[in-house]
Amino acid sequence: MSFSSLVQDLSIRDGNTPRRPQQPRGTASASTIDDRASHISRAMSYASTTATSVSIAGDISSQLHGGYHHPLARSWQAERQLTKSMLIYPLFISDIEDDETLIPSLPGQHRRGLSKLVAFLEPLVRKGLRSVILFGVPLRPGSKDALGTAADDPQGPVIQGIRLLRQRFPQLFIVVDVCLCEYTSHGHCGILRDDGTLNNQLSVDRISDVAIAYARAGAHCVAPSDMNDGRIRAIKLKLIEEGIAHKTLLMSYAAKFSGCLYGPFRDAAGSSPSFGDRKCYQLPPGGRGLARRAIVRDIGEGADIIMVKPASQYLDIISDAKELGKDLPVAAYHVSGEFAMVHAAAKAGVFDLKTMAFEVTEGIVRAGATIVISYFTPEFLDWLDN
Ligand code: PBG
Ligand code: ZN
Repeated sequence: MSFSSLVQDLSIRDGNTPRRPQQPRGTASASTIDDRASHISRAMSYASTTATSVSIAGDISSQLHGGYHHPLARSWQAERQLTKSMLIYPLFISDIEDDETLIPSLPGQHRRGLSKLVAFLEPLVRKGLRSVILFGVPLRPGSKDALGTAADDPQGPVIQGIRLLRQRFPQLFIVVDVCLCEYTSHGHCGILRDDGTLNNQLSVDRISDVAIAYARAGAHCVAPSDMNDGRIRAIKLKLIEEGIAHKTLLMSYAAKFSGCLYGPFRDAAGSSPSFGDRKCYQLPPGGRGLARRAIVRDIGEGADIIMVKPASQYLDIISDAKELGKDLPVAAYHVSGEFAMVHAAAKAGVFDLKTMAFEVTEGIVRAGATIVISYFTPEFLDWLDN
């Protein structure tokens, strides 16, 4: 028998070796492999060594397969494993009490009113959901204005949602997105000047007030996504003033890029700008240096976590964030457009949905994220066992 046919024989048997009952998993087949292997090495000491000298030509460090033959060994190759506690699930809460509306561009995701939240979340929490991020969606006519007044309405869906979730799910970590675009009549992420550009000072004053209102209502974490300059510092100072800085985590959307990947989110939240775009406050896609400066700035202003968004198109930025912020957690937001893309491709038969969900999310973790905001969270609660 030649060496190559022996190897083939071995690999066929390896795949098909029946497991003997009562024996711990792997034991039976492993001992079979060992027996076979010793046959091979005995055979090899007599046979020609051509095959061997080819396969280990050069440095012995060329031999890598042994390190990842077994599934467990493959998982050991990752610096960090994807776990349930890394995941934050986005929730869209509307101001219509019993609303439960599927968002067509965001597969499987709904906008829900307060009365639908608890029943929806109960099974997820049971399966290991640890954290959610809340987005308010004002649908009632007349609820939007130039200042985004509804953002911190004490009777609004976000503040009521924080109270409800804190009460019903005491173990759940509540993150709240802080922005004005869902609440402003013009759909921009701040207060505007007459020429349609952002008034940074007024926007920061208002957004930091909104953040404080959420924190006072019980949010564990406030996450400003507006991108106005200096808002992290303003929020941190107000949290200190209020005496709640010690129990409120401040997560900055530090490196948030403009582009076409937020479309399904804007459908869900009704937050598309009524004119223009967000290119003068969200970062230009090529702006790696700008992103690094924003990350360094926000760490300096008091962010406890920095976020990169979108995620899969910006893995180099996640890696930069990890390097620049090596002493704090790095979050990445796998945004609505990225999620919808994976679904569309899976539906078109390009790949299997679950396989791709893992591949993209593990890629984000490999790049340096220790927290992933993901619409795949409910699925991962089924797919992961840790
Ligand atoms: C609000 C906000 C957006 C997202 C998170 N917070 C939309 C935007 O900036 O237009 C996007 C999230 C997603 O696409 O899933 N500023
Ligand atoms: Zn916004």
